[in-house]
Amino acid sequence: MREQWGSRTGFIVATIGAAVGLGNIWRFAYIAGENGGAAFLLVYTVFVVLIGLPLVIAELAIGRRSSGDAVAAFESGQRNALWRYAGWIGVVGAALILSYYAVIAGWAFKYFAGAATGDLWRAAHGGFGGYFDGFIASTFEPVFWQLLMLAATALVVARGVKGGIERINLWLMPVLALIVIGLAVFALSLPGSAKGVSFLFSPDWSALTRPSVYLNALGQAFFSLGVGMAVFVTYGSYLGRDIRLPGAAVTIAAGDTLFAMVAGLAIFPAVFALGGDPAAGPRLAFITFPQVLLQMPGGTWIGMIFFLLLTAAALTSMISLLEVPVAVAVERLGLSRGRAALVISAMVFLLGVPSALSYGVLTEWKLAGQPILDAVDHAISNFVLPVCGLAIAIYAGWRLAPSDSMAAADLLGSRLGPLWLWLLRLGVPLTIAVILLRSLKVL
Ligand code: TRP
Repeated sequence: MREQWGSRTGFIVATIGAAVGLGNIWRFAYIAGENGGAAFLLVYTVFVVLIGLPLVIAELAIGRRSSGDAVAAFESGQRNALWRYAGWIGVVGAALILSYYAVIAGWAFKYFAGAATGDLWRAAHGGFGGYFDGFIASTFEPVFWQLLMLAATALVVARGVKGGIERINLWLMPVLALIVIGLAVFALSLPGSAKGVSFLFSPDWSALTRPSVYLNALGQAFFSLGVGMAVFVTYGSYLGRDIRLPGAAVTIAAGDTLFAMVAGLAIFPAVFALGGDPAAGPRLAFITFPQVLLQMPGGTWIGMIFFLLLTAAALTSMISLLEVPVAVAVERLGLSRGRAALVISAMVFLLGVPSALSYGVLTEWKLAGQPILDAVDHAISNFVLPVCGLAIAIYAGWRLAPSDSMAAADLLGSRLGPLWLWLLRLGVPLTIAVILLRSLKVL
């Protein structure tokens, strides 16, 4: 018998665990910081509601409808063999995201371990810039921490949907919610925190004239929700008919967005209170923020808790990414779950080594003028995820019969059904196409 989630709560918490990750903390803070803060947040939220939410519903519906792995989900009832590849793209894409995601998760884990022993603060006394650069430039260390995070991920996935994935999420997610709220309350109590709040919530409208803001908001919405790579297709395939998908999807999208905002409230007030630069880029969470912490009383404790948050949030997302190829290997190749988790995480590890070394021995290797890791992250978030999202919208909107896809989404007979369908048919594809074409400077 195919595995199923143990409870409705377990499923919701596991999907929120997939959505909440480095994207909500590390990536959200730096992308928001670089793209004008509040104006970005507004565009981002609109994309989450109008593009992300319909796609989350669609992915869950496609998965539950077929009750199979990601490849089976796009095959069922299809004569057109082309759709078969859609599932495979999701499988390969999830592995590719996991490959560099594990590297950044490893940085977080290294910082947490260092903060817990105190080594981090001693070693970084000369400044976090030099410390971080020294760390990511070394050959052994980033690879070591990347491997540890992948091993932990494989261990959980090997234990199965209910006994592994659901269980660890039910444990970790409430703790993460408490931690992020606690950190935000602390940051808001700092003198001068108001500047950080207004950076995030009072828009500077001039930022909206930059086309790159829209592309970055779109990419961030996909990445942070975790849509586009069949993760929700796979998680949805372990669902029974007794759960209503639209409500579940709203909970997931709202939880993910709220989490990013609260994490922003933990980071920006601290950064502004001590005069850090919000547009410091990917290094914001690893250089600017700890530098700020080092200057304030109790900051080393806050730092330890922050990097614990980052590591644990990353782990629950890594689990979701590994589950996509593992489910395919179990169901298509007949591997045992344990063996599939081991073999695939080993392959993902090798695939990620160039990313781990991209600031060290491979620093001369640039893709599109960027270090390997940065280039892969940008290409995936701003291009591959939107294109795959477009394919999912077309599949659920046009390829399946309307009555079939609306029934799969629990929207048959609902007044929201046609709205959802037409968003998938026209709204989502057109918006994505216009933003992508504009960024290629065609329109
Ligand atoms: N959403 C996760 C984050 O914010 C990352 C993630 C998990 C993801 N599953 C995904 C990104 C699927 C893209 C596609 O960190």
